[in-house]
Amino acid sequence: MPIKTKLDKIIRSMGSISIQDFIELSNFDNEGFYNLDEKSKISKDGHFITSPEITPLFGYSLCNQFIDAYNNPSKVHLLELGPGNGTLTNDILTYLNKQNIKISQISFLEKSNYFRENIKKNLSYKVDFLDHITSLSISSDEILFIYSNEFFDAISSKQYVFRDDNFYEIRITKKNSEYKIVYEDTLLSEYLKNFYSEYNFKNGDILEHSNNLMNYLEDLNFILKNNFFFTATDYGYQKLPKKSTLRLISNHQPIKLFDKFENVDYSFGVNFELIKKVFRKFNPNFISQKDLIENFLPKEFKNTTEESTLKAKKILNSEIFFNMGSSFSNISFFSK
Ligand SMILES: C[S@@+](CC[C@H](N)C(=O)[O-])C[C@H]1O[C@@H](n2cnc3c(N)ncnc32)[C@H](O)[C@@H]1O
Repeated sequence: MPIKTKLDKIIRSMGSISIQDFIELSNFDNEGFYNLDEKSKISKDGHFITSPEITPLFGYSLCNQFIDAYNNPSKVHLLELGPGNGTLTNDILTYLNKQNIKISQISFLEKSNYFRENIKKNLSYKVDFLDHITSLSISSDEILFIYSNEFFDAISSKQYVFRDDNFYEIRITKKNSEYKIVYEDTLLSEYLKNFYSEYNFKNGDILEHSNNLMNYLEDLNFILKNNFFFTATDYGYQKLPKKSTLRLISNHQPIKLFDKFENVDYSFGVNFELIKKVFRKFNPNFISQKDLIENFLPKEFKNTTEESTLKAKKILNSEIFFNMGSSFSNISFFSK
């Protein structure tokens, strides 16, 4: 059944649907974006492209960032959050194998059945698919290298509007065959005012708050004690923008909400300030993707004259492709 038909059914029975539930349905329903059986979802021929799909240099830079913190690591357990095609782990394996670093286990957290099946078919190494981050099984002599690219921006979020000292939830309804945004009372208003009390909200400001993201951060906090290196790269911000960061992409083009319902990827800007706060005990390092590449690209690629490498470096570093250099950031932290 098409997403639009499912959406209409929900609106008919509930009156409205939250932005978060709508996006969860659109992304992860059996016929949703991440589960639709298409040949290549994340690629030049698909709907969007990501840094690991552009070049292995991205993964090599993450390895170098890890090695910089963990000089000569032995027995490494790889954990990727939201691997998609699995390309980033492939590149990371290639680089770490070249450095003679032993990989003891590979674990993936991947919600899409389509990607899980694809990974099982195409990758030559054994992977443990986790249902929850907390079900990770790690032995005491392993170093956990945990990484992600564009995982956190795929986590759906609720949106609220601030009006006359209260937050109202932004929801979707349908009237006279047209989809409309409505603002509804929420019991969470006081909680949100408290949680974001350091911000001065004005009438009309929009707040994005995701209980899904909060749950993932809590789970990560539970498993990350010591002997780990965490690095995440995403599209996001350091200070609440107080406006919607929702992006819709289809066939490599940005589209507007309700323009179409099938084959659309929905994502939100990631609140890096919140991630920094949750992991402040590890003193996180926050840099732009440009700095990630400039600081951690392995030296053998730094002075290359090879044309495809130069082109890939330029894309990761610069503004020419979705502002990859500056609107994508990297957060990393570790404990030995
Ligand atoms: C934007 S794609 C990025 C894929 C890949 N990391 C890349 O850079 O090409 C987001 C990935 O995260 C996965 N994902 C999104 N939300 C998830 C969740 N709640 N739990 C597990 N995986 C999730 C998606 O299925 C998809 O593989």
